[in-house]
Amino acid sequence: MKNIISGIAIFLICACVLGRSASAQSVSTAADAAGNPWWQNAVFYEIYPRSFADSNNDGVGDLKGITSKLDYLKELGVDAIWISPCFPSPQVDFGYDVSDYENIDPMYGTMADFDVLASEAKKRGIHIILDFVVNHSSDQHSWFLDSKSSRTSAHRDWYIWRDGKGPGVPPNNWISTFGGSAWTLDPTTNQYYYHNFYAAQPDLNWRNPAVKDAMFDVTRWWYKRGVSGFRLDAVDTLFEDPDLKDNPIKTGQNAFGDPIEEDKYNTKLPEVHDVLRGLRKVADEHNAVLIGETWTADVAELNRYYGEGNNELQLPMDFLFTKVDKLSPAEFRKQIAAVDGASGWPTFVISNHDIVRSYDRYGDGQHNDQIAKLIAALYLTLRGTPIMYYGEEIGMKTTPPTRPEDVKDPIGRTGWPKEKGRDGERTPMQWDSSENAGFTKGMPWLPVPDTYKTHNVADELKDPDSVLVFYKNVLKLRHTNAALLDGSYAAINENDANVLSYVRLYKDHGVVVALNMSGSPQKVNLELKGKGFAGVKALLVTGKSSAKGSEVSLEPFGVFIGELRK
Ligand code: GLC
Repeated sequence: MKNIISGIAIFLICACVLGRSASAQSVSTAADAAGNPWWQNAVFYEIYPRSFADSNNDGVGDLKGITSKLDYLKELGVDAIWISPCFPSPQVDFGYDVSDYENIDPMYGTMADFDVLASEAKKRGIHIILDFVVNHSSDQHSWFLDSKSSRTSAHRDWYIWRDGKGPGVPPNNWISTFGGSAWTLDPTTNQYYYHNFYAAQPDLNWRNPAVKDAMFDVTRWWYKRGVSGFRLDAVDTLFEDPDLKDNPIKTGQNAFGDPIEEDKYNTKLPEVHDVLRGLRKVADEHNAVLIGETWTADVAELNRYYGEGNNELQLPMDFLFTKVDKLSPAEFRKQIAAVDGASGWPTFVISNHDIVRSYDRYGDGQHNDQIAKLIAALYLTLRGTPIMYYGEEIGMKTTPPTRPEDVKDPIGRTGWPKEKGRDGERTPMQWDSSENAGFTKGMPWLPVPDTYKTHNVADELKDPDSVLVFYKNVLKLRHTNAALLDGSYAAINENDANVLSYVRLYKDHGVVVALNMSGSPQKVNLELKGKGFAGVKALLVTGKSSAKGSEVSLEPFGVFIGELRK
């Protein structure tokens, strides 16, 4: 029996090694040597399709543009791309208002272009994850057009319709995330419909089994076309209290001038978990992964999204990490420990299309590139699945509009000047130093920041000290080092106020990571003897950071990643 097991283990190891070297031929679906599913060791990369690569020079990115960059992504070390919504949409919220869940918006191309993208990605071993906008559709979706046409229409109960409390008074006090009441009166039937986001994004009624069936079928439809999973948009808001009770009001006003509410009756209702369990069952039939846009307040909430026995989301996003707004070892230590102790596999997100880029969040204005490398060394060496955001790897910065008339994001238009919207983190990818950063030969839909002259793919690939080359190196290390892939996490030197250090241990093999989060040189004693190791050998460092015996010397914002020696 023992021999059979070790034989299987050897076979799995060989298959894994072969699988890795042969990964250009097929998308891996199998578990790795340690028995982990494919998504656990994969590096995910979010593409905001409007801004990634424009193949037809109309100023907006497209699917053919993404296909043309697959080799770049493969060489970078990306295993899965999450494409923000590319389905037909009036683009009120830039695709997060879907008018047909089973097609591609002509602005991004055709279904044939999608099929080419899927097969080319598969050849390179890259999985495709689509963004599934589950909470709401567009008000131009045929379901909603029928729903609003009469009180007795076939789709009436697919959305949430209610009478007002009186003339001009909505059914309750709920406020839209994008400003104003979450209810809009539709004159055709003289009832209000509910929209947690923009009025053009009516909430689907998930209490209606027909909605559930239709939405589950959408996932099956895409799985058949080669998709490996979904990022589930805004899952927190899937259900509303059936009695529509008023939310408690806190003091103060938000950026839109609305009262601040505690989202007690329209967010994180327990019913969401039934839906997630159902979606997960379908996903499991296709070896697929579900990532959740889950704005969890603490680990208890995060655990609820993993579900009992991990039967809901495999990768609920831990945005707690993005809430650490300064380079504070203590804060990072706290968040890492929290998510490391959660009941599922950690997910690390550093930025996305709704969040200020990490370059601006942590940069001090003088050492920004060094700090960008430090952040890469952090989230790409932790125990968990990282989700990168396009452009982070070249040190792109957030560049918000300076004049209200230039704002494209609806929330920036209603919230100006307090809320400038999310255009700043959605600017075109900077491919080279030619006009418009090589993104388009037309007029880009958002201006290209000036930093493209210094921070672009072509130039950084030639510079061994660039942020991009550092990302490539750290990703290469992560993909080939068992301790970084599967090792446990343990914080060390926990009282150090300047340096964040930890070890990743896998069987008798270990890696230590030391990150100097201060602007002055630092030394760290790893006290290896007490941990059963004799020394440490550098694997990847920045600048002159180095190790001697048990002591690591770090330059300002320096990175040291080393292998522990017995
Ligand atoms: C999610 C998306 C965001 C969008 C909102 C409404 O939060 O990430 O971009 O505006 O959902 O769909």
